Amino acid sequence: MNRDYLYLRQNVQLEPLIDHWYVWSHLIPPATAARNITERHMKIMDSYIANPQIHANAVKNPKMMGGPFIDYGGKRVDEIRALRDRIKRERAGLLELSAALGQLDSLLRDSAKGHSLQLLYSKVPEILRGYVELVYDLNNHPSFRLVEPLFYVSNHYDRSQQSLMLSPITGDDRPFVLSTPRLESDGSLHLRFPFDHPVIDELFQLKTISRPWREIKEMTQISDDQDDLLLSFLTPEPPARYESYTGSRVRWRYFGHACILIESQGVSMLFDPVLSYTYDSSVSRYTYLDLPETIDYVVITHNHQDHVLFETLLQIRHKVKNIVVPRNGGGHLQDPSLKLLLQNTGFNNVIEISEMEEVREGNVQLTGLPFFGEHADLDIMTKMAWLVTIGPHRLLFAADSCNIEPRLYELLHRQYGDVDVLFLGMECDGAPLTWLYGPLLTRPMERAADESRRLSGSNYEQGMHIVNCFKCKEAYVYAMGQEPWLNYIMSIKYTDQSRPIVESNRLMEACRNQGVVSERLFGEKEILMESPVLATVV
Ligand SMILES: [Fe+2]
Ligand SMILES: [Fe+2]
Repeated sequence: MNRDYLYLRQNVQLEPLIDHWYVWSHLIPPATAARNITERHMKIMDSYIANPQIHANAVKNPKMMGGPFIDYGGKRVDEIRALRDRIKRERAGLLELSAALGQLDSLLRDSAKGHSLQLLYSKVPEILRGYVELVYDLNNHPSFRLVEPLFYVSNHYDRSQQSLMLSPITGDDRPFVLSTPRLESDGSLHLRFPFDHPVIDELFQLKTISRPWREIKEMTQISDDQDDLLLSFLTPEPPARYESYTGSRVRWRYFGHACILIESQGVSMLFDPVLSYTYDSSVSRYTYLDLPETIDYVVITHNHQDHVLFETLLQIRHKVKNIVVPRNGGGHLQDPSLKLLLQNTGFNNVIEISEMEEVREGNVQLTGLPFFGEHADLDIMTKMAWLVTIGPHRLLFAADSCNIEPRLYELLHRQYGDVDVLFLGMECDGAPLTWLYGPLLTRPMERAADESRRLSGSNYEQGMHIVNCFKCKEAYVYAMGQEPWLNYIMSIKYTDQSRPIVESNRLMEACRNQGVVSERLFGEKEILMESPVLATVV
């Protein structure tokens, strides 16, 4: 191979890891990471070490998809044991922090009875002192708030446990990554760089801009015996060039799930980036190759792992000018700040928006609208539906908003008026609370309560109410996790009888009956929006 100028192959995948576990957003803030290590990772690894065959059998059962099972066919027990022991040793501080959060909960439950909390500060576990303020709500329910920025400047935020695994990917068939730690394997290159390291930007720029081998080797700091492996990820072949949309209309493209790119009049916006790599497949799709050279705004709807995907975010960081996120609430454990966790992973351009605040550029306006539900009734503010106004066009990206209070949309319509195009998730059979937030609980939850408090999006009635309320002309169902390249982070396999499919079919039919264009997006889609003025003239 000519080593003068080389590109990174389009099918080289990045798995960002912490403690060898695939990263999602609760593994970065120290407090949620601590709880996930002790209540999720340790429990899964202990169970595997005790009974690897049970895991091997469960992984084969489609009904157990997404469950807490390690996918190594009952093998590699010694490596999992070594990893567990290493985490116990190297993460002792976080293990202690996790226990302290449990002790703090008990302290408040047993001792905070409506009187002043001042005397309790001296009883707060040592490791948490100064990091928490004790509070009551107006009904004397005691609680605490975390001073989150302090955790990031403490020893609890340890960048040395972050690393990058590079390997080739050739198809959609990728194992579920959230329950299985990523062990070293042949054909994978493990680079021990933290997420805020500029080498990530340099590496993924290589997918479009070539560099000499000497420079690539130097930047990755690999040893000579890793040369052949890294060279196998490189190619002298330039990729197809991306042509930005330069027309006068608004173009949007669906990349799968909740990921949509809007380009108009020199401004680009990418919602909830979750991208497929480029390889041969029977399902046509847009991939990393279909992104503009710079993205003016990446916009995040909410802090669930299928909407904030570090694997994608890190790879596009070098081309993102601004990243817009919803502001979190008051320091609750379950609601970590997206701004802080992005800033601490190398994103220097985070814009945090509260409800009904906006960002403007030229005649493009992005307004944050309240997002109710889909978070199991937990007090979580890091969620936003986004209203995009471009000239005469108005598009609402509602993501997984669940219309549990129709009055909200009536009030929003009164303030903002009609919306042309609605994008709405209808995963109305969401997972129970504990599937995602279980590790943060410090007392077991009653099963019936857990089953009733789900991460569910809108159903037919709830969705239709939004369509009608905003007098939408087009309504697209999206964010359904159906694309085959998402199986590794979603645990969804629908049949025709699944409620999200039945309910969204009903919504599409009702929309069409009343003259509203409607479709459940899958794979890829491109729309060039008509100018309403021209449309009337024609
Ligand atoms: Fe969600
Ligand atoms: Fe979702």
